[in-house]
Amino acid sequence: MQSRFVCRLSLLLVLSPLTIAAQQLRLTTNGLTATANGTTLEVTALADDKLRVREWRRQAPEDASWAVLPASRTSRVTISEDARGFHTQKLIVEVGEGLSLKISDRSGHVLQEDAGPTEWRDDGFMVFKRRTENEHFFGLGDKPGPLDRTGEAFTMWNTDSFGWQESTDPIYKSIPFFLGEREGRYYGVLFDNTWRSSFDFGRANDAKYSFGSLGGPVDYYFLYGPEPRDVMADYAWLTGPAPLPPLWSFGFQQSRYTYSPESQLMDVAARLRKDKIPADALWLDIDFQKDNKPFTVDPERFPNFPQMVSQLAKNHFHLVVIADLHIADKPNVGYGPFDSGVAGDHFIKNPDGTMYVGPVWPGSSVFPDFTRQQTRQWFGTLYKDFVADGVAGFWDDMNEPAVFRYPSKTMPLDVQHRIDEPGFVTRTTSHGEAHNILGMQNSRATYDGVLALRPNERPYVMTRASYAGGQRYAVTWSGDNSSTWNHLRMTIPQLMNLGLSGFSFAGADVGGFAGSPPADLLTKWLELAAFQPIDRDHSAKGTRMHEPWVDGPEHEAMRRRYIEERYRLLPYIYTVAEETSRDGMPMMRPLFMEFPHAATDGSPLDLVAGGAEFMLGPDLLVAPNPSPEEVAPYELHLPPGSWYDYWTGKRVGVASKTQARDAEVRDALLQNQQILLKPELATVPVYVRGGVILPLQELVQNTDEAPNGPLTLRVYLPAAGEGCEGEVYSDDGHSLDYRRGEFSRRRATCSIAGDGTVTVNIAAAEGSYQSQWKRLRVEFVGTRLEPHEALVNDVTHPMTMSHSLPGVEFADDAKAVSIVLH
Ligand code: NOJ
Repeated sequence: MQSRFVCRLSLLLVLSPLTIAAQQLRLTTNGLTATANGTTLEVTALADDKLRVREWRRQAPEDASWAVLPASRTSRVTISEDARGFHTQKLIVEVGEGLSLKISDRSGHVLQEDAGPTEWRDDGFMVFKRRTENEHFFGLGDKPGPLDRTGEAFTMWNTDSFGWQESTDPIYKSIPFFLGEREGRYYGVLFDNTWRSSFDFGRANDAKYSFGSLGGPVDYYFLYGPEPRDVMADYAWLTGPAPLPPLWSFGFQQSRYTYSPESQLMDVAARLRKDKIPADALWLDIDFQKDNKPFTVDPERFPNFPQMVSQLAKNHFHLVVIADLHIADKPNVGYGPFDSGVAGDHFIKNPDGTMYVGPVWPGSSVFPDFTRQQTRQWFGTLYKDFVADGVAGFWDDMNEPAVFRYPSKTMPLDVQHRIDEPGFVTRTTSHGEAHNILGMQNSRATYDGVLALRPNERPYVMTRASYAGGQRYAVTWSGDNSSTWNHLRMTIPQLMNLGLSGFSFAGADVGGFAGSPPADLLTKWLELAAFQPIDRDHSAKGTRMHEPWVDGPEHEAMRRRYIEERYRLLPYIYTVAEETSRDGMPMMRPLFMEFPHAATDGSPLDLVAGGAEFMLGPDLLVAPNPSPEEVAPYELHLPPGSWYDYWTGKRVGVASKTQARDAEVRDALLQNQQILLKPELATVPVYVRGGVILPLQELVQNTDEAPNGPLTLRVYLPAAGEGCEGEVYSDDGHSLDYRRGEFSRRRATCSIAGDGTVTVNIAAAEGSYQSQWKRLRVEFVGTRLEPHEALVNDVTHPMTMSHSLPGVEFADDAKAVSIVLH
């Protein structure tokens, strides 16, 4: 709370036929406080485009957050007084009758406006906002269903949802953040409340949207764009960006529930190498443990665990193992996690003070009280042996938390959690408050624990459940999907919405978890996943095997080709991942993120195009069949600009970038940029924007292998009169040294002169990391010139063909270099 009040005290008298409600508005240096009828509204400007809104009756609730970074919560900007509120450099905040809040941009465009007073219900409440006719909503984490959340209602309650379907809600995660689009302007709302909460985006009443909770505070953040990319950066500022994962995790990963015994895992490893299917990681699920007890290894099925891990490492496989949060309730048998957990009083309790016990994989289990800092620290030490053995990554599953006995699939609401945490009042609370953050705090314990055991190495943690801000600790996946064509299709909106909710590093079980995919489905899934952030094949016990070779050589060849392409694209993929780790831009993005003004009415392009298209980073547009099981041709709608077919290098699409701001663009989009595609099992159409410089490498079988060839900068020439740009980021791929400047970033631009001369300028490397690339190849797509030579820093070099494209190759010393082609 602000203590210094400035300016003035104003009294607005609001008359109604029945009552006279006094509303008091006080401006503070950074916002305002208004009270009416015993309710207080507080609006704080954290930055010129970021507001925090709190509201309470009687006493102000505890001011604490699991999601928001302390530095962002305490940030403040000075505001200027207005008659009904205040303004910042970017926003106008007005409070009207009944504490109704209106937020506009400085030109007066309303961005968000209350549709009535907050409704208080027992311990809960509901906040109502006006919805304009064409307002759209995205985000909310892993919830299945279409990209646009409009017209739907959702619940936040982390739930173990084996076999979830399109309309299942809630599922594993609670990420109460959404991105709104109103008349072409974007904003974000983080509703920071960990209790069971709900969102309605015009389902009950299409003129309103609402959010509320069964308990906890009215506490939300309004983040203004106007561009969607600004909102992503705001959200990363507020909750922290996802740290850059190790390079190997962008390679192909093979998993199953469960490769066991050891020989089966080793056979999979050997076959991947023998069949030359590039791969970087193998995963072990629960059956590698002794009687499903987390942090154990079954000595019969995995008799040589440390040797096995080092053998895999020698073969350039990173091993990821599962270590669920539930600890087997096994006293007096020498099970360390239980004994040390009891000794340290680390387990969640019943209201009568006894340990809460519930059944999960090992049978009766107890559960760490992750809302205690000491408990997280203790849990982090449990990874010691695995880390010493060289296990590369950890898998936090079942952390909703899943408990088998009850219809609710989790623990009873009256179990007691202790909150003992810097920034919070030390207290006991019920499961109702702690449920949705338990998975996040579990992954935080893993991340911090593994980092402490292996300082300066990037921890790799995958979590199933989480809460807003959980991207700081773990990557994620979409849980127990199914081996159906519809689930393949659903990976696209689901992974995009996860990316819009901070979880850019996300994947879906490739091939589907439940059920057995027919060969064509597995092939298509392996092809598509090559262009998604995490490419991990996983399957349930009892289903048919999923590895790329299981359907014979023809299918294997198609699958291999896509995995290989992912490895060629790794310099680009890693560059995009690094961008996520800085400014929160999702790797897999909706078209509107890159083309927010392509449609004349400002509506998100994805809703106009209506397909299954997505962008991988800023440059690649992936256009799978929206009905993947059908053989009929489908329409591709390319955003404005010039485009190239990634596979053939042929130019497609006609509208130029300048048309993007033209009033006729929507028509151009629908007419000129429309292509009919014939689905083929062996192909996922991919397009590259004209005017980009795409970094690629020669094929490798894993990320440890040094590519046998140069770094290629492939220049996709823009339309005449326009320029192009691109960059490539690299570092050692595994340590945190990049945070201290040990990285290499190369930026490149190009221009085309009136006579067709192409000049590419590559700037000197930024950062102190000596990149592995000692040679560069600059390659041209779309040039009408057929030169035999190019000038590299004024020295003539021969042009050569590679992958059917002309280019020039030269030694690189990381200094600035210019290439001229004429
Ligand atoms: C549930 C997870 O979602 C799944 O991926 C895993 O294989 C099983 N638990 C067994 O650990």
